[in-house]
Amino acid sequence: MLASLVFFTVLVAVTYGSLLLKHAQIIKHDTDLDFSYDFVIVGGGTSGLTVADRLTENSEISVLVIEYGYLYPNEFDILVPGLLNPTPYQFNITSTPQRGLDNATFAVPAAAVVGGGTAINGMFFDRGSASDYDAWVGLGNPGWGWSDLLPYFKKSENFTPASASFAEEFTISWDDTAHGFDGPVKSSYPVFQFQSIKNFISAWHSLGIQTPQDPSGGTAKGVFWGPSSLNPSNETIFDAQMAHYNTVAGSRRNYHLLTGNAVSKINFVGQKATGVGWLNREAFEYGYVNAKKEVILAAGAAHTPQILQLSGVGPKGLLNNLEIPVVVDLPGVGQNFQDQPTLYASYNFTSNIVPNAGTLYTNTTFANEQLALYNSSRQGAYTLCKNSGNVVAFIPLPNITQDFESIISLATSQSPEEYYPPNTDPSIIAGYKAQRNLILNLYNSNTTSVLETGFTSSSDIPLTLVKPLSRGTVFISNRDSLEPPLIDWGALTNPADVEIMVAAVRKQRGLMATDAMQELGPVELMPGANITSTDEIRAALMQLVQPTYAHLTSTCSMMKREYGGVVGPDLLVYGVQGMSIVDASIMPLIPATHTSSTVYAVAEKAADIIKARHQL
Ligand SMILES: Cc1cc2nc3c(=O)[nH]c(=O)nc-3n(C[C@H](O)[C@H](O)[C@H](O)COP(=O)(O)OP(=O)(O)OC[C@H]3O[C@@H](n4cnc5c(N)ncnc54)[C@H](O)[C@@H]3O)c2cc1C
Ligand SMILES: *[C@@H]1O[C@H](CO)[C@@H](O)[C@H](O)[C@H]1NC(C)=O
Ligand SMILES: *[C@@H]1O[C@H](CO)[C@@H](O)[C@H](O)[C@H]1NC(C)=O
Ligand SMILES: *[C@@H]1O[C@H](CO)[C@@H](O)[C@H](O)[C@H]1NC(C)=O
Ligand SMILES: *[C@@H]1O[C@H](CO)[C@@H](O)[C@H](O)[C@H]1NC(C)=O
Ligand SMILES: *[C@@H]1O[C@H](CO)[C@@H](O)[C@H](O)[C@H]1NC(C)=O
Ligand SMILES: *[C@@H]1O[C@H](CO)[C@@H](O)[C@H](O)[C@H]1NC(C)=O
Ligand SMILES: *[C@@H]1O[C@H](CO)[C@@H](O)[C@H](O)[C@H]1NC(C)=O
Ligand SMILES: *[C@@H]1O[C@H](CO)[C@@H](O)[C@H](O)[C@H]1NC(C)=O
Ligand SMILES: *[C@@H]1O[C@H](CO)[C@@H](O)[C@H](O)[C@H]1NC(C)=O
Repeated sequence: MLASLVFFTVLVAVTYGSLLLKHAQIIKHDTDLDFSYDFVIVGGGTSGLTVADRLTENSEISVLVIEYGYLYPNEFDILVPGLLNPTPYQFNITSTPQRGLDNATFAVPAAAVVGGGTAINGMFFDRGSASDYDAWVGLGNPGWGWSDLLPYFKKSENFTPASASFAEEFTISWDDTAHGFDGPVKSSYPVFQFQSIKNFISAWHSLGIQTPQDPSGGTAKGVFWGPSSLNPSNETIFDAQMAHYNTVAGSRRNYHLLTGNAVSKINFVGQKATGVGWLNREAFEYGYVNAKKEVILAAGAAHTPQILQLSGVGPKGLLNNLEIPVVVDLPGVGQNFQDQPTLYASYNFTSNIVPNAGTLYTNTTFANEQLALYNSSRQGAYTLCKNSGNVVAFIPLPNITQDFESIISLATSQSPEEYYPPNTDPSIIAGYKAQRNLILNLYNSNTTSVLETGFTSSSDIPLTLVKPLSRGTVFISNRDSLEPPLIDWGALTNPADVEIMVAAVRKQRGLMATDAMQELGPVELMPGANITSTDEIRAALMQLVQPTYAHLTSTCSMMKREYGGVVGPDLLVYGVQGMSIVDASIMPLIPATHTSSTVYAVAEKAADIIKARHQL
């Protein structure tokens, strides 16, 4: 081992060049690490651990996962849904100024912990509509439609329905045929709900918006209470670490995990990926390992493009400016960035039913009582995810506004070139045009949703544009792998997105005007009842919208290379050998849903594709 360390000190010193000047040059290898692995997985989050688990089912195959974060201790605050606090387990990254949002900057929600986003997320475990995934096929991806993915959604899931009486009381509806019952990821429903949820559900019903038989069955629209990634045996959060590491790694000598290290570079011999280099986040020491069969990127949509660009895989112009040797000119790396911009409308419900979610903040006696109840018998309000709860309405564009055709014509009249800098590679423009056609077809149909809104029984009501037209970028600005990349959501830069949000605000006011919501005495605080004209609403949106719903996707999209794609339907990176991507960055179009269950399904399918190509 010692000999190889000395050898790699030299190799790494050569490869990293001037970067070494920034940090100490000592290498501290974890002595348990092997010299090489069949597969090296970059990122021990949701997708990375899923693929690691599936590949190590075969004891002949060795896998190393390299993760920036640490295993969390079995801490009370990460396990109790009602106490969720993501802050200690996230990267601390600030976005670039958002020009659609009055140049404000925003915190970037990106997990930094073994288990990734699922360890700290809002636990909503829903799926998109069939047409969301079928649109992926239209971008050059045979085998990635709804009917192809449904078996993998099921394979990943271990579903427990709600009790019949609770389901009846709170309009929880499901269809067993849409779910998996043997998979590793537990999904279920909390065992408690606040009463005023019923007003929200019946308000939508009074507007003609129905409850689907099962939102997981390919029609994710209507008002419903969706499943959560919640362990029904003790009402704790259930994440990828529990599903794909804790349960299996102890008995698999071929499954290694290295924590607390930032992968900084993929090494290539010619165009073939041969290994992975990293930097210890505490000690600034380098390490390196060989990958015999494949390097698999799973660092999430914020970091996978960063690692590729640092390694010489990305837009030639960017790499040349930073004097990074070009391994392959791949203009799409860091383009097509998507998320779901959100306005948190806020209300004073002056005649709300007590208790409600707000009571947990205003009445400490109630909060303590509920926590004691959770501790003693896993009942009560702390089984609901904090500030979430997952009672939602997903609305197709024609049902947000009767004026939807004018929004579609506004988008059609735009020239996509206007939204990109002058020297943008033509493939990026071609890809955006293809995407826009698909999106506008979805806007024109009622097969999927464009607005999501939800209610926890108290003040804040998110209005989320789940299928935006605006696009952002993730680009590095220097060669230091511990510096975050520049994250630019480009939120609301497309005026059609602004018009949809204006319509959403009006739809929301229509909901509040229903008898069922009026019973709760809503007084609009934000944007404010005095904000009424279209111009006033537009101006308020610019001030109040958040660019993210923590659903970062699409920065290394699975699309034709002529469309600015980065991977093909086999998930292999174009122009190189031996390197694939399996995380949220490959989704070419963000589905109209929260993203975690889709990430698990994609990763399950990825594992099968990888096994097949290596005949495992
Ligand atoms: C706060 C929050 C709330 C959310 N709420 C919901 C929700 O309610 N429902 C839902 O469905 N989805 C939700 N999501 C989104 C969902 O969790 C993500 O889409 C999903 O986890 C992404 O999976 P991934 O594998 O792409 O990335 P991740 O799970 O983020 O995994 C990436 C991993 O790579 C590691 N990494 C990054 N860079 C490096 C590097 N250089 N070297 C080594 N390791 C690295 C990270 O530390 C991380 O562990 C939420 C996300 C967040 C952050
Ligand atoms: C981000 O900051 C928080 C609060 O200071 C800290 O707890 C957390 O560890 C930091 N995250 C990382 C990845 O360093
Ligand atoms: C945002 O910043 C850009 C670049 O500095 C500037 O051109 C633009 O006018 C600013 N927008 C607003 C709303 O201030
Ligand atoms: C939703 O939109 C469709 C298509 O325009 C229309 O047929 C239907 O009546 C609308 N439903 C509601 C409840 O608005
Ligand atoms: C919850 O139950 C799982 C088994 O389903 C167990 O592994 C875990 O330790 C339990 N967690 C707590 C905090 O009780
Ligand atoms: C909410 O309404 C109540 C009752 O009218 C009032 O006492 C309270 O000040 C209001 N709160 C806010 C934040 O406006
Ligand atoms: C606070 O909660 C306790 C316990 O549920 C209840 O008895 C009490 O009436 C509440 N106080 C107020 C001011 O609502
Ligand atoms: C619940 O249990 C946690 C962890 O054991 C403890 O910190 C907390 O004080 C308990 N709270 C109550 C109200 O019992
Ligand atoms: C969906 O749209 C079609 C027309 O495109 C319409 O016939 C149908 O009623 C709509 N369904 C719903 C549930 O709105
Ligand atoms: C709306 O009312 C708020 C609070 O009184 C005030 O600050 C704001 O200027 C008003 N906006 C408009 C457009 O009247």
